Amino acid sequence: MATAVITGGTDGIGRALAEAYLSRGFEVLVVGRDERKGRAFAAAGERARFISADLSGVAENRRLAEHISQRHPALDVLVLGARYHRPNRVLTADGFESNFALFYLSRFLLSHGLAGALSRAGNPVVLNFGGAGQTGPVRWDDIQLERGYHGVGAMGHAGRLNDLLGVDFVDTYADTGIRYVLNHPGVVVTSFAGEYDPVTAAQIDRLRVVGKPVATAVAEILPFLEPTGQDRLTAVLEGRRVSLEPGSWDLGEARRLHDLTGDLLAQFDRRTA
Ligand SMILES: NC(=O)c1ccc[n+]([C@@H]2O[C@H](COP(=O)([O-])OP(=O)(O)OC[C@H]3O[C@@H](n4cnc5c(N)ncnc54)[C@H](OP(=O)(O)O)[C@@H]3O)[C@@H](O)[C@H]2O)c1
Repeated sequence: MATAVITGGTDGIGRALAEAYLSRGFEVLVVGRDERKGRAFAAAGERARFISADLSGVAENRRLAEHISQRHPALDVLVLGARYHRPNRVLTADGFESNFALFYLSRFLLSHGLAGALSRAGNPVVLNFGGAGQTGPVRWDDIQLERGYHGVGAMGHAGRLNDLLGVDFVDTYADTGIRYVLNHPGVVVTSFAGEYDPVTAAQIDRLRVVGKPVATAVAEILPFLEPTGQDRLTAVLEGRRVSLEPGSWDLGEARRLHDLTGDLLAQFDRRTA
């Protein structure tokens, strides 16, 4: 039986994708923190499962990748959709800026930690909600946004890091058949998980009026995940393929980010040894 793992699968677009894969006969593992939402999904049947995990922690991501790899030696679909908005800069228990930890580092750890299981599937695909080329440059001198933090900007910055994660991933695993799809879905009416200051909360209320339903967002991205897809890296903006121009999809930048992330994780491991 084909298997899909979906982080952020307890709500929003992730939850709708989880239901779509369930209806296609997949075993679907959704990952989130909310037991109530997780149990509600798992009630859909034997193939629907919930794994409780706080993905803002390094050890939790490593444990999750290990747990899944042991039970599912071949993984067909990995969706990376967990996010949480914070109006102020907050550090995780590991000492990382919270968006960097959840929106980027978790996706780095899970992409690489599950690459072995993915490579053993017939036509594996990773879907990562990145910026799809729509965000500004990487702040190389301030990657965890110590200066001038802004909640929405921090999510955009993480989107850019995820674009580069995709570029690096397909290069690193060039000898496998794993495809990587980066998606910016546009404004979608979801739970918009997070905490908001009054100004941003008012903006979110307006987005709830103009945003598209999750069903539309899922219909726009599913065709790019089909097993018939050939491209190793695809970027999609609201259902349209984005051209991978060298400027915004630079392999040198992607490798630089890979190395920087590796250094940060090595420092973390030394700190916590
Ligand atoms: N909605 C939009 O307009 C929009 C626009 C652009 C990009 N996107 C991207 O699309 C993806 C899905 O967004 P969405 O709006 O559909 O999501 P959402 O409704 O805001 O839900 C967020 C998900 O993240 C999970 N989550 C939050 N903190 C977590 C943590 N510490 N550990 C584990 N899971 C955690 C939540 O699970 P629990 O509640 O179970 O913790 C929930 O399932 C995200 O990457 C988002 O950035 C969305």
